[in-house]
Amino acid sequence: MSDRFPAVTAPLRAIFDEAERGLSKVFTPQWNPLLNLGALGFFFYWIIVGSGVYLFIFFGTGVNKAFDSVEYMTRDQWYAAGLMRSFHRYASDGLVIVMFVHLLRELSLDRYRGVRWFSWLTGVPVLVLVYVAGVSGYWLVWDKLAQYVAIVTTEWLDHLPFFGQPVARNFLSPESLEDRFFTLMIFTHIAIPLIALIVLWLHLQRISRPRINPPRGLAIGAGLALIALSIVDPAVSQGRANLAEVPGAIGLDWFYLGAFPILENLPGRATWTCAVAMLLVVAVAPWLPPMRRPAAAKVDLANCNGCTRCVSDCPYNAITMEPRSDGRPFEGEAVVDPGYCVGCGICAGACPTSTPFRRMSDLIPGIDLPDRSIASIRADTDCEAARLAEGTRIMIFGCMNAEVAEARRSPGVGVVSLTCSGQLPPAFIDYVISRNLADGVIVAGCAESSCLNRRGGAWTTDRVERLRDPRLRERIPSARVRLVWAGRRGAAQLQAEVEAFAERLESLGPYRRVRDRKTAPSEPGRADA
Ligand code: HEM
Ligand code: SF4
Ligand code: SF4
Repeated sequence: MSDRFPAVTAPLRAIFDEAERGLSKVFTPQWNPLLNLGALGFFFYWIIVGSGVYLFIFFGTGVNKAFDSVEYMTRDQWYAAGLMRSFHRYASDGLVIVMFVHLLRELSLDRYRGVRWFSWLTGVPVLVLVYVAGVSGYWLVWDKLAQYVAIVTTEWLDHLPFFGQPVARNFLSPESLEDRFFTLMIFTHIAIPLIALIVLWLHLQRISRPRINPPRGLAIGAGLALIALSIVDPAVSQGRANLAEVPGAIGLDWFYLGAFPILENLPGRATWTCAVAMLLVVAVAPWLPPMRRPAAAKVDLANCNGCTRCVSDCPYNAITMEPRSDGRPFEGEAVVDPGYCVGCGICAGACPTSTPFRRMSDLIPGIDLPDRSIASIRADTDCEAARLAEGTRIMIFGCMNAEVAEARRSPGVGVVSLTCSGQLPPAFIDYVISRNLADGVIVAGCAESSCLNRRGGAWTTDRVERLRDPRLRERIPSARVRLVWAGRRGAAQLQAEVEAFAERLESLGPYRRVRDRKTAPSEPGRADA
């Protein structure tokens, strides 16, 4: 099923897979920064806003006041406003880093195409806005670096046909620069992040329960790192700007100003063409080949009782409950918006009618994927079970994004593929074990906390642990079910889990049914047969 990902991003994906595995060992999956990039972006954003408000209290808006006020903060008030200045600076650098890594990660995971175009496209203006806000911040200090940034930026802007008079003229001599220019800059520096926040709100419109706050441990760690950096290497100004002189050697903040030496030295027409072309390529990336659009989930009204579970579990806000259109006495009916649906199948895993025990009628659940129906999963399960030899038998339900499951197929191990671990209704685990199709079930999926479909791993865990509907029935002992979040590069881990699980199952002996009740005894306590 490797066609799920375009080959062109394979090296990038391999880098991320390895880095994520490594960092999960250091930080644990929950606190892994690579698995919390969007949330870290928001975290840095709020630090920038908070520290920015504090700095604004002391900031003097004007050609002569700006530098002095920033110096006062940095030197006289180094322990408060000075620290805030550094905090503001490093959080801004952090924002740029996590934004780009987030972009690359979404690209590597193929989460920029199909119906996900919306999240991608709304991310593009954020790139520009973050840069404009950051660069305008450097002007405000009005030191030699600010002078350099102001001159290079305005000369670059003057290549555009919009401005009646060259903007760079404001920086020809000390007399040509007016206080109102600083008023304009501070306005820009405040307004642009606010616009970015509105765009970010849009960015999350197609994501259900977006994770916008990093876990506490990661937030504390990131905050402490910023404080440590601020103390070890505080942000300082680089000498008062003087438009009568050309600024000499200056240090650049490479995260925001890395392109400035290029803008300074290459012809404006070439750099503008290049910048616009790059931005356009990023913006139209979702529509570039190879195209992929899995079929959207479909509701079968005859089997939908309006329970709303699919609505709660869909990670992409693709399902809404609408008034019943068939006159049946249920509160509502599920309606899928194909423009939002990524085809993950998590809804089918949530639907109470997705039960393989149904034999009287065709297995058509209330909601299902045309490309990988629940009926086809049952057919594959039966087929694999029939193949399993005597001895300890294991059935793996493996998510296609963690392709490693397929390679584990053997005389004692059956493998059934899913679009996402969350596509598996827990009734299938019950079916396999209670019908003696295998001695135990493994559900294998993406690495912990990095489900390609955002929630598949989490919902599966909750369903199997009986914390979320549809719950695994009590009659299935937990010891016979194993969840393995090995990920795409976890072949060895999955193999080791299969071997350990086989040993465990052997020690448990054959399954005997335990009675369904709130506190079912775990094996080997078997209440009834
Ligand atoms: C500071 C800037 C940004 C912030 C704070 C941010 C934040 C977020 C957050 C919180 C999510 C939801 C994560 C989740 O709960 O699973 C998300 C999703 C996403 N972001 Fe960003 N983002 C930013 C910039 C960008 C940029 C520049 C791009 C690409 C151009 C981008 C592309 C995406 C995509 C494609 C998704 C959807 C992932 C999916 O379908 O599961 N983001 N972003
Ligand atoms: S397939 Fe996934 S995205 Fe589509 S409706 Fe079902 S849960 Fe939502
Ligand atoms: S989970 Fe199934 S029965 Fe419940 S609302 Fe969704 S489609 Fe209908």
